[in-house]
Amino acid sequence: MSPNVRITPHPSFDVLAATTAARLITRLLDVQSERGEATVVLTGGSVGIATLREVAASPARLAVDWGKVNFWFGDDRFVATDSPDRNAGQAAEALLDHIPVDPARVHVMAASDTVANLDEAVANYAAELAAAARSEWENDDESPETAPPVPRFDVLLLGLGPDAHIASLFPELAGIRTKGVPVVAVRNSPKPPPLRVSLTLETINSAQEIWIVAAGADKAAAVGLGLAGASELQVPASGARGIHKTLWLVDEAAAAKVPSALMRREH
Ligand code: 6PG
Repeated sequence: MSPNVRITPHPSFDVLAATTAARLITRLLDVQSERGEATVVLTGGSVGIATLREVAASPARLAVDWGKVNFWFGDDRFVATDSPDRNAGQAAEALLDHIPVDPARVHVMAASDTVANLDEAVANYAAELAAAARSEWENDDESPETAPPVPRFDVLLLGLGPDAHIASLFPELAGIRTKGVPVVAVRNSPKPPPLRVSLTLETINSAQEIWIVAAGADKAAAVGLGLAGASELQVPASGARGIHKTLWLVDEAAAAKVPSALMRREH
């Protein structure tokens, strides 16, 4: 396993969520002290949302300048704005409604009642990413010759499905095969609801750091296969690689199929 890929098992779901929240707060603080602003990509799913709740409950959250954090989403369900299925709504309820964010920096994927169709939601998000990337590029002296398609992501959180899906990229389906575009429409998600918007694997892998969060025995096979380097078409999580770091933050049950030599213990 590459030294930039690390797995850290935690004794329980709650410890995992609390530790990931502490890690996220610290990372945002570090990035803000280096660059002024920080960018995080949020995930839906049980650990992802519990982590946001833990951030909201942590006294250390007060150290972050939330008005200078950019929030994006790795995927969302294409349902109505007020549907409890929306990752954006769950993230708002867990964290974003409780901290002083700059609404202009919270980039949610379109809900089904705000655009004509799924393709429009995908096109809008790609355009929003490109606009943010362009404005970063214009303000950066060391930037490449042309603006990249997506902005810099300091931390990108990913939940993990029992089938090893990440964001809404499911094994063998079109989303995980899609290349050359930043965002993809998913029409046949095996996990309901079927219609979703997702970042592509290329976009995910443009992140400085990827943190895959997973808990529970039903995730053990996915974690084991993801770390064993299985094909990304069959095991999408195995294709997730951050530029500087890829952390697998899991509980003991989800780590059950990982050889102990690969693990760093945090308790
Ligand atoms: C979604 C997700 C998805 C999720 C995993 C894990 O919107 O469904 O973003 O990728 O993170 O399915 O979800 P659980 O932790 O709830 O199993």
